Amino acid sequence: MKKARTVFVCKECDYQSAKWLGRCPSCGAWNTFEEETYEDTTAEPEKKTARRLFLSGQNEETEPQLLDYENLPAYLRTDTGMVEFDRVLGGGIVAGSVVLLSGEPGIGKSTLLLQICNSIAKTKKVLYVSGEESVGQISLRAKRLSVKSENLYVLTETDAGKIIKHCEKQKPDVLVIDSIQTMFHEDSTSIPGSATQIRECASIFINKAKTDGTSVLLVGHVNKEGSIAGPKVLEHMVDTVLYFEGEQRQNFRVIRAMKNRFGSTNEIGVFEMTDVGLREVENPSEALLADRPVGVSGNCAVCVIEGTRPIIAEIQALATATIFPAPRRMTAGIDYNRMALILAVLEKRLGLRFSGSDVYLNVIGGLHIDETASDLGVALALISSIRDIPIPDDVMCIGELGLSGECRAVSRLDWRVKEGARLGFRRIFVPARGAAKCQVPDGVKVIPVKSVFDILSLLAPEKK
Ligand code: TYD
Ligand code: MG
Repeated sequence: MKKARTVFVCKECDYQSAKWLGRCPSCGAWNTFEEETYEDTTAEPEKKTARRLFLSGQNEETEPQLLDYENLPAYLRTDTGMVEFDRVLGGGIVAGSVVLLSGEPGIGKSTLLLQICNSIAKTKKVLYVSGEESVGQISLRAKRLSVKSENLYVLTETDAGKIIKHCEKQKPDVLVIDSIQTMFHEDSTSIPGSATQIRECASIFINKAKTDGTSVLLVGHVNKEGSIAGPKVLEHMVDTVLYFEGEQRQNFRVIRAMKNRFGSTNEIGVFEMTDVGLREVENPSEALLADRPVGVSGNCAVCVIEGTRPIIAEIQALATATIFPAPRRMTAGIDYNRMALILAVLEKRLGLRFSGSDVYLNVIGGLHIDETASDLGVALALISSIRDIPIPDDVMCIGELGLSGECRAVSRLDWRVKEGARLGFRRIFVPARGAAKCQVPDGVKVIPVKSVFDILSLLAPEKK
């Protein structure tokens, strides 16, 4: 017999409580508890077994096997027609895998998926299910993106059970669900978007992928803190979690893998939003440096490694006299605490006074930098701004900064120097350790830096 049970579930971490709580004792988030009604299915053993088996995709009991990597199963991968997206996935969509693509509203998730569907549909059958837009709206976007294919089907439906029925009829190779938060399962009484519904629906689609090899792409919304709305368990259930990030008002968009069972997680894909959809940016450095200001103080080029690619970005710093009792500090595209650390090092070691200035730090093009190899560039940009001395255009900075002001070695120096040389940088500041071993391209001067003092003296003669 079915028994209804009411529980309160934390939207963030799936913690359950018998009564409503203001703050989740597990993850510490406020106001995240939602009331949900469960149907106690302990009395229905068949259903319980089905649930237990969904992840393995097996319908019968399995036996322990000897670990054997000589006879690996061949993962069938399908190219998405977008090299940047394939790179993040580790070489195309794996048959039977479940990919979760998440990002802020309006970032371009639906646009990207429709474009991908279009190219996959050249060889495979694709079913694009939208729970958010009508067929008319999707067609309008498809027209704008010049999407036209005989193998691409669209469906507007939010009932997960019905979607699976359509899949059984249509037998698509790739199924797109836009978005998982709009889906519901009739057995569950909670509202769409709630933790239980998301979990139930996701498990239905995952089960579909694992049993008949359909590749499933799920769109996930993010909440205002930037994490995927819904229970964290969703991220555990899928094979790959991708984040679509970027500033909405800027054109560059970056896709990053947070988790990938079929590839590495440190590759990124760079796109640009145009009026005819997303365009791949094969050469991000060139694009990011395209409209860099020249002859202005506070700008410095840095090189970070994203996966297997060096990317050159421009750091902008602005230090102005403050009118506030506590000066303002603001960063965009770079970690706030990293800036605080670099400012502290410059104040203490070089005696520069930032405490009377508001400091703003920005990475041009909407790129997010989280590699410490940009520290030296940030420091140089800050010095340049507070002293109002422009850094010459042909200078690039590579190096991590320690608390004593020392410049630490970074990985893959050769790659960075080569990329810098390719883009026309002629003087490249590098950490002293590793500088000797670095291959220097023709026409490039590699300047070893031991500590921040060195960049000071190197910058001073450039005074204009
Ligand atoms: P959309 O893909 O609907 O975003 P999401 O599904 O992530 O919420 O659309 C993203 C934005 O991109 C939308 O506000 C309009 C804009 N856009 C373009 O600039 N060019 C285009 O060709 C398309 C289709 C959309
Ligand atoms: Mg959308």
